[in-house]
Amino acid sequence: MSETLTKAAARNIFYGGTAFFFAVFVALTVHSVTKANAIAAANPITPGVAAGKHVWEKHSCVNCHTIMGEGAYFAPELGNVWIRFGGREDPDGARETLKAWMKSQPSGVEGRRQMPQFNLSESELDSLADFFKWTSEVDTQNWPPKVSG
Ligand code: HEC
Repeated sequence: MSETLTKAAARNIFYGGTAFFFAVFVALTVHSVTKANAIAAANPITPGVAAGKHVWEKHSCVNCHTIMGEGAYFAPELGNVWIRFGGREDPDGARETLKAWMKSQPSGVEGRRQMPQFNLSESELDSLADFFKWTSEVDTQNWPPKVSG
């Protein structure tokens, strides 16, 4: 048997490798789509959630905060803020805490980073709460690893 790679062997490796990795690609695509659909079905986007996301985008909260690990690192992660505000045990309490927080900024406490006042309406604050509740229920597989980002 020859020690060198023949043309036929090289061709077989090429076709075999291409077929194998194409099959892997298709399998991973099917897996991702199935998983994404299951996540979306388990946690539907209500009009309130969509409106909250709009408030989030309109006021560029992401310029200071991260959400599910994405964004700026000036201020805490907010994808899980609903849970940190006790939303799992007491949803009404978490909603009130969030509203009170938004209304009380900036804190003016010396040496503490400041968050602007956005003067949001009650309905905007409610939709923000819906949005944060929704994000807290997305299975991020414990990302980001540090809860406050
Ligand atoms: C200019 C930067 C900046 C922007 C823009 C900003 N924030 Fe903040 N935010 C902060 C800072 C700084 C803190 C932490 C303040 C502190 O701990 O005293 C904070 C804290 C918070 C907290 C409390 C988090 C916690 O874990 O206690 C919430 C909720 C929050 N922001 C929501 C928002 C929302 C909603 C928006 C957009 C409407 C927004 N922030 C936009 C800077 C910002």
